[in-house]
Amino acid sequence: MNARTRVLTGITTTGTPHLGNYVGAIRPALRLAQRPDVEAFFFLADYHALIKCEDPERIARSRLEIAATWLACGLDPLRVVFYRQSDIPEIPELAWLLSCVTGKGLMNRAHAYKAAVDANIAQREDADAGISMGLYGYPVLMAADILLFGAQQVPVGRDQVQHIEMARDIAQRFNHLYGGGEALLALPDAVVDEDVATLPGLDGRKMSKSYDNTIPLFAGGAKALREAVAKIVTDARAPGEPKEPGSNALLPIYRAIAGTAEADAYAAALRGGMAWGEAKVRLAARIEQEIAPLRERYEALLAEPARIEAALREGARKARASATPLLQKLRAAAGLRAPHTDAPAAPARSATGGARSGRFVTFRAHDGGFHFRFLAADGTDLLLSVPFDAPKAAADWVNVLEKAGGETSFVWGREGLNLRAEDTVAGPIVALWFGAERLAESGPQAGAAARDALLDRVVRELESRWRALRGG
Ligand code: TRP
Repeated sequence: MNARTRVLTGITTTGTPHLGNYVGAIRPALRLAQRPDVEAFFFLADYHALIKCEDPERIARSRLEIAATWLACGLDPLRVVFYRQSDIPEIPELAWLLSCVTGKGLMNRAHAYKAAVDANIAQREDADAGISMGLYGYPVLMAADILLFGAQQVPVGRDQVQHIEMARDIAQRFNHLYGGGEALLALPDAVVDEDVATLPGLDGRKMSKSYDNTIPLFAGGAKALREAVAKIVTDARAPGEPKEPGSNALLPIYRAIAGTAEADAYAAALRGGMAWGEAKVRLAARIEQEIAPLRERYEALLAEPARIEAALREGARKARASATPLLQKLRAAAGLRAPHTDAPAAPARSATGGARSGRFVTFRAHDGGFHFRFLAADGTDLLLSVPFDAPKAAADWVNVLEKAGGETSFVWGREGLNLRAEDTVAGPIVALWFGAERLAESGPQAGAAARDALLDRVVRELESRWRALRGG
């Protein structure tokens, strides 16, 4: 039913975004996410950030700034599943399963690790000096990021292509060992966008934090932007003298921001003798025109971090709902079956199934379909099932749902059971799924906050129901 292509990419949360990140990564990713045939998963790779940075304050600040940047640049959290890697415990869990099927030799070949070893050797250090297991296993964690969500396409920079290839290798190995002929894990493809401009920095080399030649995106406001542009290196041609427009970073940056037609006019003005100083003022003003409204949103978001947090929490909820059924399947395939699978059935409901806990009821609706409802202890209607064509089908599902309570606690998505916050045309709702089967949902709620409160309530009521069934 889902014909959309699942596109996933991670954003390492180190540093502060610059104009090159905006043009080369943020803008193209957000354009891609707008396409109706794309289902986008974008996440903050903050576990990966820990590999590169051991300063907790910087990690925390960068995570917040980068989330705010993407939201300010137009990421719509209702459309894109936008989350933090560290909010998804299933990712490190899968990373471990994958580690156990990943050859050490494969990791020895990773570029980032090899570069670190080479640098050590060049400095006559021990080959592995300062190299953590995090750096060494980086590609495994990245494979987990991708494979957990069945991503089909992974937009990345050139330097990351090897990691996607490794994710494919690891997935194939897992499938071969545990799939019994089934492709448990989907093989992702790297997508490297050849059209995306890599923006030159102030000195004409690729704009990059490591060259210290960046133009900040938001940091420091319009003033910092003007000052950075003023530092773009040009030749010494005087005002009035014809300039070679392609001889420095001004024109490519102008083109990336304003498009070809305006950039052609800008180039013509340079050929006609526009002073470098004037060209810089015009470029800074054009960038400012583009990013001022985004910066305003960025600052508003940073002033209210709770809004960012709410968006990320909701994203994590959606991401986990999507991930847990697959992880459960992978665990089982590797021999880690849920311990309660063979547990005796829950005690008969008559003993304790009274009105002090929530309960399921089955009934026939006037449309002729058979349904179940889940009612709270106080009788509030929480969930209504989809229609089934036989009373037994509705009763069987109730039975399954009540047995789920044989677990010691309700774990999201274990055994395929999960509750999700969803947005429908009618409004925000809570939906109950079992694997790929959509079983029941709440009525539309007055806003996402009301829906989230309902979601918490449904979880509590289910847990109390299960406790009651166990006689607890
Ligand atoms: N390693 C990527 C980078 O440095 C970030 C990243 C982490 C990522 N996990 C990912 C990218 C999964 C794509 C998919 O750019």
